[in-house]
Amino acid sequence: MTSLVPEPLTEDLFDAAWASIEDSFGAAPHPADRAVERDTVVPERFLVVRDGGEVVATSGAFPLRMTVPGGAAAPVAGVTWVGVRSTHRRRGLLTTMMAALLREAHERGEAFAALWASEAAIYQRFGYGPASWALQVTVPRGAGVNRQVPAGGLRRVAPDAAVLAPVHDAVAAVTPGMPARDDAWWRARLHDAEHSRSGASPLQCLVTDDGTGYALYATAMSWSEGRPDGEVRVRELLAATPDAHARLWRHLLDLDLTARTTARVAADDRLLQLLAEPRGAVARVVDGLWVRPVDVGAVLGARAYAAEVDVVLEVDDAACPWNAGRWRLSGGPAGAVCARTTDAADLAVGAADLGAALLGGTPLRTRAVDERRPGALAAASTALGAVGAGPYCPMVF
Ligand SMILES: CC(C)(COP(=O)(O)OP(=O)(O)OC[C@H]1O[C@@H](n2cnc3c(N)ncnc32)[C@H](O)[C@@H]1OP(=O)(O)O)[C@@H](O)C(=O)NCCC(=O)NCCS
Repeated sequence: MTSLVPEPLTEDLFDAAWASIEDSFGAAPHPADRAVERDTVVPERFLVVRDGGEVVATSGAFPLRMTVPGGAAAPVAGVTWVGVRSTHRRRGLLTTMMAALLREAHERGEAFAALWASEAAIYQRFGYGPASWALQVTVPRGAGVNRQVPAGGLRRVAPDAAVLAPVHDAVAAVTPGMPARDDAWWRARLHDAEHSRSGASPLQCLVTDDGTGYALYATAMSWSEGRPDGEVRVRELLAATPDAHARLWRHLLDLDLTARTTARVAADDRLLQLLAEPRGAVARVVDGLWVRPVDVGAVLGARAYAAEVDVVLEVDDAACPWNAGRWRLSGGPAGAVCARTTDAADLAVGAADLGAALLGGTPLRTRAVDERRPGALAAASTALGAVGAGPYCPMVF
């Protein structure tokens, strides 16, 4: 184990910390990205570890508000900037930083922590479970759209947060796992530095005439053996109505001189239902948000449930010992209460199992849960399932 200790990120250490996190990912800071990076970072929620003056490790938590099943918004620690330079790995620095971030999140009253994992194996030991799933789709142009999909009703505009925010907020309000977006996050989402385009066009924006949907995308045009082989790369497509969703997809899937469209969509997105020939599409299931409870009572009490539930959970949580012990969860579609109890447990669950099921995207029954009362797991799993839309987080943080 290491004797190095994390310290809070201060303004004068920002550039050194940024260089460290970029280096941990095998990259280097690009001046074009600095303003966006600096604007989203909240220094008092970030940690650095220094060795002889050099920053060798970083981590942090964005203070987010995220929708939970039923439509309430909960305070969330959006864990990020996790990186340890190659010279300092496997000495426990990540473990030390994770403990500090979770303590801080608990002191600040955050209900759960969420993150995007560079590698799925890293965070399970810290009590995170895969809570949202997405489809990484590639749709060949020939897949076509079915006859129900309307044409037209679209405009190309400059990407502008003021125009897009109402759609985003309407979708976020009913989509668990979607964080609220303030100005700094909108700047990050619309940031379009040339060095990150990977040969594609500048960011394009398509909106529906009625203001209920938008698509942010780029095109990467190329030719192969004399035939057009362009690619439409969808960064974000959000629609508050099925009609807007269909119009936007119809347009993007049929752009002249392109051969395919790629996107990461929600696991329950309607896209595949729009295709005339869905077999042509390739959809890879990918993990999205990894979630763990920071305050079991607060997070289970914040969400609504797909069915009535009354269950005593025995929670095992080594990384957040304040969560350990028995909790009675009673509630249903209208809301719930989750409080400490001395009653016998119906289910014994680990933090990662609970985290995986928190947003309604991973059935609790698919996790290794110890059922102490017959029938309790099936009932709890159904109740913890999706209430309306399944979870989806359109932006990697
Ligand atoms: C992932 C990373 C932060 C781990 O940091 P670290 O300080 O080496 O981690 P620790 O020493 O605290 O390791 C804790 C445990 O996790 C394991 N672990 C660490 N990284 C792992 C990985 N990538 N895959 C699987 N297990 C991993 C360690 O083996 C150790 O297990 P043990 O307790 O059984 O020995 C670091 O390797 C890194 O910066 N990687 C590149 C950037 C990255 O992927 N960051 C994560 C962004 S989401």
